Amino acid sequence: MSDKPFRGLILPLAKQHDRRDFSCGNENLDRYLRELAWQDARRRVAAPFVAVSDADSTKIRGYYTLSSYSVNAGELPDKLAKRLPAYPRIPSTLLGRLAVDLRHQRQGLGEFLIMDALQRALKQSSQIAAVAVVVDAIDEQAARFYQHFDFLSLPDRPNRLFLPMSDISDLFK
Ligand SMILES: CC(C)(COP(=O)(O)OP(=O)(O)OC[C@H]1O[C@@H](n2cnc3c(N)ncnc32)[C@H](O)[C@@H]1OP(=O)(O)O)[C@@H](O)C(=O)NCCC(=O)NCCS
Repeated sequence: MSDKPFRGLILPLAKQHDRRDFSCGNENLDRYLRELAWQDARRRVAAPFVAVSDADSTKIRGYYTLSSYSVNAGELPDKLAKRLPAYPRIPSTLLGRLAVDLRHQRQGLGEFLIMDALQRALKQSSQIAAVAVVVDAIDEQAARFYQHFDFLSLPDRPNRLFLPMSDISDLFK
């Protein structure tokens, strides 16, 4: 972890946030923020959250999105599936995207964002149930980032990873 902790807030994406200047090194994630995130929020397809610093509350330093989701029970590892009822689809929360601006990477903001997303998902799960948080890593490097936080790959889809809500609950005890 960086010895310079992030000083700022994580907020739902709003009009005053400047989406044009964000650059994380992955064009798809940049374009999503620029062109689609606002519409997704309006249509309630995804809920985007942005990290802004105390110094400049319009510049986006990082973002993530959350959505309701369900996974095929057959995709889950046996160990987890055995603890669940035999429903064909299992409710979960999708952490659809997560990115940090290049100018602020490797300073602990990715961790700050992921912890905020997990805590938010945990809190929501007492009202809208979710068994796990699921992520689709865009590449192997992204998968390694999630593995760093104990996410596990689905047996047949290594770039789709999940973290059981019970583990997330333990994390915030
Ligand atoms: C992946 C990304 C979000 C990491 O953000 P960051 O702010 O640089 O990460 P942090 O500084 O918070 O690092 C947190 C921890 O994860 C580790 N980490 C960071 N990137 C990593 C990677 N690619 N692989 C493995 N571990 C990684 C760090 O070493 C750190 O561990 P430590 O606390 O033990 O030192 C950022 O590099 C990014 O936006 N990349 C482009 C988009 C992307 O790949 N998004 C993720 C999937 S959609």
